[in-house]
Amino acid sequence: MPPIIQTCNLTRRFGSNTAVDNLSLTIERGEVFGILGPNGAGKSTLLSMLCTILKPTSGTATVNGFDILRQHHEVRKSIGIVFQDPSVDADMTGLENLQMHADLYNVPVSEVDTRIKSVLALVQLEDRAGDFLSTYSGGMRRRLEIARGLLHYPKVLFLDEPTIGLDPQSREHMWDHIRMLKKREDMTIILTTHYMEEADRLCDRVAIIDHGKIVALDQPSVLKNGLGGDTIILGTKDGQALYDLFLKTKVSDNVQVHNGEVRVMVASANIILPRIMEQVSAARIHIEYIYLNHPDMNDVFIHYTGKDLRHEQAHGHIGKMAMMRRRRVR
Ligand SMILES: Nc1ncnc2c1ncn2[C@@H]1O[C@H](COP(=O)(O)OP(=O)(O)OP(=O)(O)O)[C@@H](O)[C@H]1O
Ligand SMILES: [Mg+2]
Repeated sequence: MPPIIQTCNLTRRFGSNTAVDNLSLTIERGEVFGILGPNGAGKSTLLSMLCTILKPTSGTATVNGFDILRQHHEVRKSIGIVFQDPSVDADMTGLENLQMHADLYNVPVSEVDTRIKSVLALVQLEDRAGDFLSTYSGGMRRRLEIARGLLHYPKVLFLDEPTIGLDPQSREHMWDHIRMLKKREDMTIILTTHYMEEADRLCDRVAIIDHGKIVALDQPSVLKNGLGGDTIILGTKDGQALYDLFLKTKVSDNVQVHNGEVRVMVASANIILPRIMEQVSAARIHIEYIYLNHPDMNDVFIHYTGKDLRHEQAHGHIGKMAMMRRRRVR
């Protein structure tokens, strides 16, 4: 079976601005694939091309084995789309929105009711189906959009910023829905985000894109571990003695001392820390504090793009969580 998505030198320019730049990418069936990048990185443009809404300037791509230029009808039948900007009609009920979409997508009349029932159950909106969308919360509207995107049983679901503007609890619920879709419906899900935690916790693989190019692509854990593991930072009045001790015991081949702080770089702090504590105790060196620094997706992002996305997330909780990664353990 061919990969569910394959792009080859896909490029889109707007005048002199290259939004997607010579991008080659393979996405396997059944993945939750995240596209992470700052505002204007080219995420929506990439999705629009894969959804056949926008034509590439050059390059090619296939979706579910179909060419986005020559077989766009087949591509459209294979995909569901949830846009970045809400596109449901607030003056209609949830049910009416779904019925209209079923009609647009030529869902066989005999199947419409059953399918609407099943997608409403999937996003847990059965009780609210008869209500006007104007009375839904933001999270409910998002879920209705997902239900709508699933009506024609797509093989691939594209979600452009699925949790933007949602509170932390609704965001967690949305993640649960997405995981369930992947598992129960055996669907490939491709989502864009600029939330680090979303990329980290929800996605099987993440592509970081900047200026229309992929700057890194792998599983979140591999991206984080690729930064060289954890740093253990110990504060003491006798930094030199501690430094000499660690050199002698060889806890790590990367130990530094600076202003009474000793930094030990290790693959995994969880494994080394007990050994360090034993050595320090045996040598009777007094430790004033210990910090652990685990690399997170924000560190990965800064490493590959030289930018800090945290300020862009200042309105959300995720930025704060990233800041808290420097945990005090003692
Ligand atoms: N229709 C358009 N006409 C002109 N320029 C466009 C158009 N659509 C996108 N662009 C430009 O292409 C670049 C990529 O935009 P895109 O919307 O793909 O970014 P994005 O990664 O989705 O950003 P965001 O996180 O803000 O949604 C930007 O420089 C943008 O200004
Ligand atoms: Mg966008």
